[in-house]
Amino acid sequence: MASLTLTNVVKHYGSGKQIVPVIHGVNAEIRDGEFIVIVGPSGCGKSTLLRMVAGLEEITGGTIAIGERVVNNLEPARRDIAMVFQNYALYPHMSVFDNMAYGLKIAKVAKDEIKARVDKAAKILELGHLLERKPRQLSGGQRQRVAMGRAIVRQPQVFLFDEPLSNLDAKLRAQTRIEIQKLHRELGITSLFVTHDQVEAMTLAQRMIVMNAGNMEQFGTPEEVYHTPASTFVASFIGSPPMNLLNHAPGAQTGTTLGIRPEHLDITADGGWAVQVETVELLGAERLVYGRVGDEQLIVRIEEGAPAPQPGDTIHVTPRAHRLHTFDAGTGKRL
Ligand SMILES: Nc1ncnc2c1ncn2[C@@H]1O[C@H](COP(=O)(O)OP(=O)(O)OP(=O)(O)O)[C@@H](O)[C@H]1O
Ligand SMILES: [Mg+2]
Repeated sequence: MASLTLTNVVKHYGSGKQIVPVIHGVNAEIRDGEFIVIVGPSGCGKSTLLRMVAGLEEITGGTIAIGERVVNNLEPARRDIAMVFQNYALYPHMSVFDNMAYGLKIAKVAKDEIKARVDKAAKILELGHLLERKPRQLSGGQRQRVAMGRAIVRQPQVFLFDEPLSNLDAKLRAQTRIEIQKLHRELGITSLFVTHDQVEAMTLAQRMIVMNAGNMEQFGTPEEVYHTPASTFVASFIGSPPMNLLNHAPGAQTGTTLGIRPEHLDITADGGWAVQVETVELLGAERLVYGRVGDEQLIVRIEEGAPAPQPGDTIHVTPRAHRLHTFDAGTGKRL
């Protein structure tokens, strides 16, 4: 196991006039044994960052260190990492056992040792009874577990995951998420996990890196990111529905964006902000009220049991004062 340190990591694709800057200087100190999630919208550079750590992509500037060792010029096979991708191609003609053992055979690990490691990984992943099967005889979730098994048997210093759950249906994703957490508790291996799904990020991360267009917007625990977002980007990316961001709300100073989460607004008889209700959605345990304060959109979350306003109504809502966030309207940074 090892820590992982990124210092001013920069990536440009292409050269000459065709240069495409993609990562603009990322700094992160990841502790030994930490589970880190990298989250951000499509194209923000998550896979690029991961592939640079893996050594599959050259870095343009900065350093990447695994433990004390700078690995910038080290080939992937010598970095002591294991990677699980979204498209975890298994060898179709090999059994589950052989799929998991393959990398170790290539590395000339002794037969007894291979068997011991595969059996242990199979036990952790509950694949013991499937070792003789071929991939086509497995469900999607089971195949995904074999791909993880293949990474585990390598006993790497660092695990890298690139959206490994995206091909699974919602229920299986939730289940596999719990398995990954369990796995991390048992093995304690430093992990970098990429996703564009903020719920996955919130539930899996010990700390998370929120990326936007090649920049690290925030690096913190899920609580920190949720309760003290560093920018309007983070505020609107993390949390569903997103934080309300208002530039002209009563009480907002010019040049300031006021932020309030839908669950931190209370409906009151009068006073507060007058909201014109446009739509009301029932989501089971709660309702979302969509409306307008002046010309700006506002979402209010209320409990399913509370009286529901109707479209066309005017309601009054009061933001909980200690839950208000303020951002610079120009830069979007938290004030
Ligand atoms: N080989 C390449 N040449 C030029 N640009 C590239 C290359 N590979 C990726 N890019 C660009 O780099 C940016 C980051 O890509 P990357 O694959 O890291 O995004 P991502 O955050 O993983 O997105 P997604 O969630 O869609 O997987 C994108 O704008 C992409 O178009
Ligand atoms: Mg990607």
